[in-house]
Amino acid sequence: MTIKAALLGFGTVGQGVYEAINSHREQLTKRLNNEVEIVAVLIKNPNKKRDIDPAVLVTTDFEEILAIPGLEVVFEAIVGEEPGFSYCLRAVEKGCHVITANKVMFAKYGKILLKKAKEHGVRIGYEATTAGGVPVIRTIEQQLQVNDIQKVEAILNGTSNFILTEMREKQLPFEKALARAQQHGYAEADPGHDIKGKDAFYKLMILSQLVFGSQPRWDQVEVKGIDRLTPADIEKAGRKGLRYKHIAELYRYGNTLKASVKPVLVAADHALYAIEGVNNAVTIYASLIGSITLSGPGAGKFPTASAMIEDFASGYGRLPQLV
Ligand SMILES: NC(=O)c1ccc[n+]([C@@H]2O[C@H](COP(=O)([O-])OP(=O)(O)OC[C@H]3O[C@@H](n4cnc5c(N)ncnc54)[C@H](OP(=O)(O)O)[C@@H]3O)[C@@H](O)[C@H]2O)c1
Repeated sequence: MTIKAALLGFGTVGQGVYEAINSHREQLTKRLNNEVEIVAVLIKNPNKKRDIDPAVLVTTDFEEILAIPGLEVVFEAIVGEEPGFSYCLRAVEKGCHVITANKVMFAKYGKILLKKAKEHGVRIGYEATTAGGVPVIRTIEQQLQVNDIQKVEAILNGTSNFILTEMREKQLPFEKALARAQQHGYAEADPGHDIKGKDAFYKLMILSQLVFGSQPRWDQVEVKGIDRLTPADIEKAGRKGLRYKHIAELYRYGNTLKASVKPVLVAADHALYAIEGVNNAVTIYASLIGSITLSGPGAGKFPTASAMIEDFASGYGRLPQLV
């Protein structure tokens, strides 16, 4: 039997999922004992030209997607809280597994979606929301359940890390390094979320929910971007053997959760010192393991598609996760 899947969004990530499912058909079939078929794609602008098989339903109407008989999984790769949340909720209520990359939506509504998914006996995969292709959610969810996690420190925004690396290596001012990030396609035309720390903040809140079962009050999290750093700051740090890294930190202090996202000076023995360019990395400090650092591509078409597809393939057929 074919596993029918729908794709919400056909931008960088949506196209990555579509192409990866087609290029890895054999591997998916072997893993799932069934073929996965993208039967529908939801988009916003019907006039854009897209490279989609004519047999696939391409629509701007979510109701048409929900009405597909036997639809089993929805890959959500659209932008912002809404309509992403409503679409994911309705898909879950219809009995579909949902795999999302939408961090802005999941940071706010993840808890509700996970609870609903449990009630409906389906899974929500959200690996792609945090650190792109780096399997941090699954590592925590599956491998660190007995360990008492004390702290998480992470580089969660590849654009900021790339800019800091360029500023240091090429002695560039912030604006020039940002322009290079945009030329490489790492930074959006409006890079505000990346360079001001918001993007890393959403990902950190998702990690907080997973690790500690709750989030700190959003207005009490210190969020600072990298846009105030000058080449002189970076050079001065370098002379002392230090590097600025944009670090998202999360730990429990007594009964409260402490979190911050800001540029931090680190020395060569720090786990995140050597993380360069667009990479992301997450260091987890835990009672039994000590500390581990996972690193790799934090965004992009195929790393993000990889996270979504692996998330789906590894979770398919298993019980919904604990909330
Ligand atoms: N890009 C990355 O590397 C990356 C990594 C991790 C997570 N994410 C997350 O993944 C999601 C998608 O990112 P992206 O980079 O692929 O964005 P994108 O390139 O801007 O694509 C967004 C897609 O969503 C569609 N869309 C937007 N609003 C919609 C609506 N109301 N109804 C139906 N379709 C709608 C757009 O339709 P049209 O094509 O018609 O405009 C477009 O196809 C975001 O939540 C992002 O935060 C991205």
